[in-house]
Amino acid sequence: MPVVSYASVSDSPPLVAVACNPDSYTCKLSLRSKSFSLSLLGREDTSKLGTLATTHGGDVVDKLVYAGLAHMKGKKLDVPVIEGARATLECSLSSKHVLGDHLLIVGQVRAASADDAFTDSWDFRRYRPILYTGWKGGMTSYRGPTSNS
Ligand SMILES: Cc1cc2nc3c(=O)[nH]c(=O)nc-3n(C[C@H](O)[C@H](O)[C@H](O)COP(=O)(O)O)c2cc1C
Repeated sequence: MPVVSYASVSDSPPLVAVACNPDSYTCKLSLRSKSFSLSLLGREDTSKLGTLATTHGGDVVDKLVYAGLAHMKGKKLDVPVIEGARATLECSLSSKHVLGDHLLIVGQVRAASADDAFTDSWDFRRYRPILYTGWKGGMTSYRGPTSNS
C-alpha cells in the first residue's frame, strides 16, 4: 500500500516506522509475516499508486501485479520488493505500538539498496520523487517544473 506516514527513527540499530491502518491488508500481512519492505518509486509510477490505494489486497490475487508493478523476493528477507523501485528497504518487524486509530509498526532494516541516482544523497535531477498533494477524485501529485523552467 502507498504510505506517507513513514520515518527513519533510529540509526543504530537502523529502524524505520510506519503508521498503519490496522484494517489494511498490508498491515495484517506485515504482522503475520513479521516483516515488510518499503520501496521508493519515481514519478513515472504515480498512476499506479492510485490503484494501490483504492484496491484492497484481499480482493485480488496479487495487488502489485494488478497495479502494473512486478515484484521479486527480497535479497535477505522473504518479502516482496518492487522491481524497478528506486530504493528498497527490507525490514523485520521489531515492535508495534497502538497509537490512536493506527498501529505504528517498527522494522529493523536488514537490507537496503538504491539505484545510482543515490550516492551520498539523492540526485534529484535523476530521481523525481512522488510528492503527494492530496486526493481529489484520485491521487494528485506535484508534477515538477516544466521542462523549460
Ligand atoms: C498517498 C497515500 C498515502 C497513504 N498513506 C498511508 C499510511 O501512511 N498508512 C496507512 O495505513 N494507509 C495509507 N494510505 C492508504 C492505503 O494506501 C490504502 O488504505 C490501501 O488501499 C490499503 O491497501 P491494503 O488493504 O491492500 O493494504 C495512503 C494512501 C495514499 C494514496
